Amino acid sequence: MKKTIIKGTGRYLPTRLVTNDDLAKWMDTTDEWIRQRTGIEQRYWVPADKEIGVSDLGLEASRIAMKRAGWKPEDIDLIIFATLSPDIFFPGSGCLLQHKLGLTTTPALDIRQQCTGFHYGIATADAYIRSGLANRVLFVGAEIHSSGLDISTKGRDVTVIFGDGAGAVCLEGVETEENIGVLGVSLHAQGELAMSLMTEAPSSRVTPRLTVEMLEQGRHYPVMDGKTIFKLAVRRLPEITKEVLGKAGLSMNDIDLVIPHQANLRINQAYQSAMGLSDERIFHNIQRYGNTTAGSIPIALDEAIEMKRIGKGSTVLFIGLGSGVTWGAIIYRFE
Ligand code: UT7
Repeated sequence: MKKTIIKGTGRYLPTRLVTNDDLAKWMDTTDEWIRQRTGIEQRYWVPADKEIGVSDLGLEASRIAMKRAGWKPEDIDLIIFATLSPDIFFPGSGCLLQHKLGLTTTPALDIRQQCTGFHYGIATADAYIRSGLANRVLFVGAEIHSSGLDISTKGRDVTVIFGDGAGAVCLEGVETEENIGVLGVSLHAQGELAMSLMTEAPSSRVTPRLTVEMLEQGRHYPVMDGKTIFKLAVRRLPEITKEVLGKAGLSMNDIDLVIPHQANLRINQAYQSAMGLSDERIFHNIQRYGNTTAGSIPIALDEAIEMKRIGKGSTVLFIGLGSGVTWGAIIYRFE
């Protein structure tokens, strides 16, 4: 039976370090407020004076992942690119990355899904691989939030949590009878709550899609009902954990490490205590990177491998909830 196996991972963070104290120079906030409410200490943003897109961050992460997998660009059957902050309105960043990798006709698929870009992306890669439509899939999750944030006090609730960054994963179909690879997938969406975390403009429902008036009203900045998202995450993440464990025929004791989406340290600590997990069994890096949305889990996965928190034979649970509202869970067992 064909199983979807991770052959290599990589991450890339831009060079501009932005501390909480830096943010406090631009808006009415404090290092203490940000640390207490979110756990975040710093994040990396792209330099504002350079034209860098998510496909550029994705390219750097992909090169590392492909080197570790021993892949050349020509080995890729499909690129899946998850981002809510594409380089341009259309076409998708997957096409831009394909060209930057030196490829000519390899298919490239963009998905949105925001904080669950990893879950929806890996589920899609797994379906392509198991159906035989593709055997080597490059998944990239990348965001540049910094160019779209309101750095005045008005935007402080949203702006302080977001960082830029990219993660990449090389996935390959392997024939084996062993119980390895992607063992369980659960995905959900609740469009009823779409407006609780969204950016409206540029918008195809207005003509033209972006006006000076819209810019003046700040309708191109993200808005978030943080409390609704927070409470939903605390409820839905334990719920979907139970669901995906059931699908995989596993129990929580079989999970060596939980890698949650890095949205807020307090959300992940609430999950940790609800599930009775020791510190060794859950991964946090939001302190250093902030919330990099589609980049968050692939970046964390790459770090967890590098730190030897996971490796040969480990079983990992990836969970996340965010804009859409979407939430998802994936269980993966290493070769
Ligand atoms: O990955 C995407 C999914 N997103 C999430 O998972 C985010 C989930 N939500 C959150 O992480 C939290 O709701 C936030 C961190 C965004 C906000 O924390 P909170 O504890 O829910 O704060 P709040 O919005 O209730 O605001 C409390 C107070 C308010 O002042 P008053 O009304 O009590 O006077 C805010 O105006 O804190 C104020 N505030 C700030 N103060 C200093 C909001 N943002 C800031 C800030 N600095 N950056």
